[in-house]
Amino acid sequence: MARPKNRPKNETAVDELTEQQAKTEYARLGVDIAEHDRRYYQEDAPTVSDAEYDRLRRRYGAIEARFPQLRTPDSLTQRVGVAPAARFAKVRHAVPMLSLDNAFAEQDVIDFVGRIRRFLRLGDDEKIVFSAEPKIDGLSMSLRYVDGTLVTGATRGDGFEGEDVTANIRTLKDVPPHLKGRHVPAACEVRGEVYMTKAAFLDLNRKQAEAGKQLYVNPRNTAAGSLRQLDATITASRPLGFFAYAWGEMSDMPAATQSGMIKWFETCGFKTNPLTKVCHSVEELLAFHREIETQRSHLDYDIDGVVYKVDRLDWQERLGFVSRSPRWAIAHKFAAERAITLLKDIEIQVGRTGALTPVAKLEPVGVGGVIVQNATLHNEDYIKGIGGDGEPLREGRDIRIKDTVIVQRAGDVIPQVVDVVLDKRPKDARPYRFPTKCPCPLHTDVVREETATGEEGARARCTGEFACPYQKIEHLKLFVSRRAFDVEGFGEKQVEFFFEQGWVTEPADIFELPRRNKQIKLEEQEGYGETSVRNLFAAIEQRREIALDRFIFSLGIRHVGETTALALARGYGSWTAFHDACLKVAKGDAEAIAEMDALDQIGETVIEAIGAYFGENHNRRIVERLIKEVKILDAEMPKIDSAVAGKTVVFTGTLEKMTRDEAKASAERLGAKVSGSVSKKTDYVVAGPGAGSKLTEAQKLGVKVLTEDEWAKLIR
Ligand code: IVH
Repeated sequence: MARPKNRPKNETAVDELTEQQAKTEYARLGVDIAEHDRRYYQEDAPTVSDAEYDRLRRRYGAIEARFPQLRTPDSLTQRVGVAPAARFAKVRHAVPMLSLDNAFAEQDVIDFVGRIRRFLRLGDDEKIVFSAEPKIDGLSMSLRYVDGTLVTGATRGDGFEGEDVTANIRTLKDVPPHLKGRHVPAACEVRGEVYMTKAAFLDLNRKQAEAGKQLYVNPRNTAAGSLRQLDATITASRPLGFFAYAWGEMSDMPAATQSGMIKWFETCGFKTNPLTKVCHSVEELLAFHREIETQRSHLDYDIDGVVYKVDRLDWQERLGFVSRSPRWAIAHKFAAERAITLLKDIEIQVGRTGALTPVAKLEPVGVGGVIVQNATLHNEDYIKGIGGDGEPLREGRDIRIKDTVIVQRAGDVIPQVVDVVLDKRPKDARPYRFPTKCPCPLHTDVVREETATGEEGARARCTGEFACPYQKIEHLKLFVSRRAFDVEGFGEKQVEFFFEQGWVTEPADIFELPRRNKQIKLEEQEGYGETSVRNLFAAIEQRREIALDRFIFSLGIRHVGETTALALARGYGSWTAFHDACLKVAKGDAEAIAEMDALDQIGETVIEAIGAYFGENHNRRIVERLIKEVKILDAEMPKIDSAVAGKTVVFTGTLEKMTRDEAKASAERLGAKVSGSVSKKTDYVVAGPGAGSKLTEAQKLGVKVLTEDEWAKLIR
């Protein structure tokens, strides 16, 4: 089988993975990608290149597609970005800001066009016109205009809720305060990319160097950082640009095509990307990709691929979205960036769940504009080059300290060592001995994780559990992180400091700090004064109220990421209901387990993890102490206003106006649940010609049966 353009030589093709290997790799990728997301979106400090990030994400999707049984409720394919930073007011997007699926190989683009053809049931002679655009490597922005006047500028955030950066965005010369033209829609959201030119970035770094200050990493992060300034005059001093290419809510549509919309943006006073081109075939799309890739290094702004969008908006509407991305568009990325450097040493990091990850300490090297000093080596087998248990095989090559290695950064996020240059191996390069004792102060025995079939997995684990200070610290870091409790002035450094002092060893201790300060006397510690202590305590007080989903996420239960936490919060509504259910699940109560299982997006892995968590005395005690300190708010339920919201519908027989996929997608968009079988719980059966047993069953159970036209009328 041909190797996709970006897959490292040493990596096993997804098609060739055993289920066992897939399972391990899928889990590892999930953890890695989530961490990359956090660094990228929350800290604006990615550690791997965009191309590598995209490769990981694609591999994750491919594994999930081949082994759907592995899909967890908090699968990354179900989410977009991460929750917004807390410093700015939140803005709920009237239309979600979703992201794009990626194509790497030309075949992916051919498949993309084929899918569209099938979905729309187009004849072979029917042409699909595309708008092909450079994919700007900046940050997406939604600009809301009411009666032609700019009222809000919001970042993407988690796709549903972003940050209000209106004051900052007003300082951009490319963002018109008023839309030009006479007939502008009453409400109109223009979306596009904020970016910093390479020249402006270099200039800024030159000034930083002259002033002896720290250098910025790359234009994208600098643009994001510049926009996230609480003081808009700082944003104003940074030259940021904006290209318009999409829209959100529009009270009127001024055009019927993507290319028409782009022209309209120009008449309104926006800049649009001059390389944008209308293409009429797959060949033209691929030629566009090649052409732009050759121009890439000469452009004055960073791009990481090109985007193809179906030009006709009525077709876009019909194609709709699948989970986080539109069916009508795809990002065709450029190849990953790599560099060669020296592996100086290998260190072990202990994660929150006790997983031991070997990290390569490298001679600093620039990869795609970022200096890389650390890169992941995944696990013991990867270093040994035996590629066991789902790890990419580097053709039997082991990695030794003092080796010359190839480092890859993909997307813009964790770099990894992907290969060894054997010719350059010095005689004294020594094989690495993976520790048998954890580097944590307990020096516990390291065990290899068991796989589902009871075999030895690739990931090593510290057996210290609750006694392991490294694991405790990692949990505390998660607890105070922006996505969880988000205590201003209490970040990772403070966690380490307070932990070392023995003042904070578990979450409730943070809330006890103000009461205990008479003994602690924090204001007498180096780095603290009366004002900073007052501010810190005020920040702690502010966080005593917390949304249920954030609270659940902050507990650090395995497999319970933000999306799963949100699903659980919405499923149970209140902490009391959730907590009761968890305690019952831990005791093996069949009814409680079945109830949890019935929740949207929740499956066996999560239920097991919840049972294990609440089955431990230690965890129950941590939670008990914590809930005495905080007020947990009930979950907010999203409301979809449609005639079929919350209804269960079954499609059967031949549909004549649309494909089954399209029918399902549009029903789900309106909040309905589409089921494959008829039961007492079914609200509607939509039956076309040739309907058989499902129709009979519906009639028997007295379920309402609709024709395709009646259904169309109902959802109109
Ligand atoms: S269209 C529904 N067009 O890429 C998706 N996105 O991975 C609408 N981006 O969040 C996005 N250039 O920040 C679109 N010409 C372009 C783009 C572009 C850059 C970014 C954007 C988006 C991300 C998706």
